[in-house]
Amino acid sequence: MTLRRTFYTVAAAAMLLTSAHAAMASEDDITYRKSVMKAVGGNFKAIALIAKGQAGDMKNLTIHTDSLAGLAKASMSAFPEKSGPMDGKTSAKSEIWDKPEDFKKVMMAFVAETEKLAEAAKSGDKAAIGAQIGAVGKNACKACHDTYKEKE
Ligand code: HEC
Repeated sequence: MTLRRTFYTVAAAAMLLTSAHAAMASEDDITYRKSVMKAVGGNFKAIALIAKGQAGDMKNLTIHTDSLAGLAKASMSAFPEKSGPMDGKTSAKSEIWDKPEDFKKVMMAFVAETEKLAEAAKSGDKAAIGAQIGAVGKNACKACHDTYKEKE
């Protein structure tokens, strides 16, 4: 094999590797987003159960509310380019990337409302906690899912 030919072979192999990585990167991005959202859902459910006195222990409430507030911040990195419906199996709608300014607003509401819930939990004020759970559900989860998530 000539040197030139070796060069092309190596270059072609490198390109193949790069494209394989790119294809996997979007799958990984989608898997990351779903994992974050599962954790969001799990913590939110746990918060509701504790707040209603149905299960769990009140002393653990702030663990879940702090986790949720942290996950809301992590969610801001969970919607990279090339992780939409054209790129893999996802319930995320293309509107997220078509209208980034609108999407950013609901993302900021998610961060702000979960932060308020974390503060309410620290105060221990049950009425405030209950009201803020409602606000998170309405202004974050529902607001975003209604517009940006495919119904199952
Ligand atoms: C800023 C937008 C946004 C907010 C806010 C948001 N979600 Fe989501 N959620 C999504 C999108 C988009 C998906 C679909 C993810 C995918 O399939 O790639 C999703 C998926 C989910 C899933 C399914 C995860 C899976 O694949 O199994 C659950 C559960 C969930 N969200 C719960 C919640 C809860 C509870 C809240 C509020 C505390 C919330 N989400 C807030 C956008 C959001």
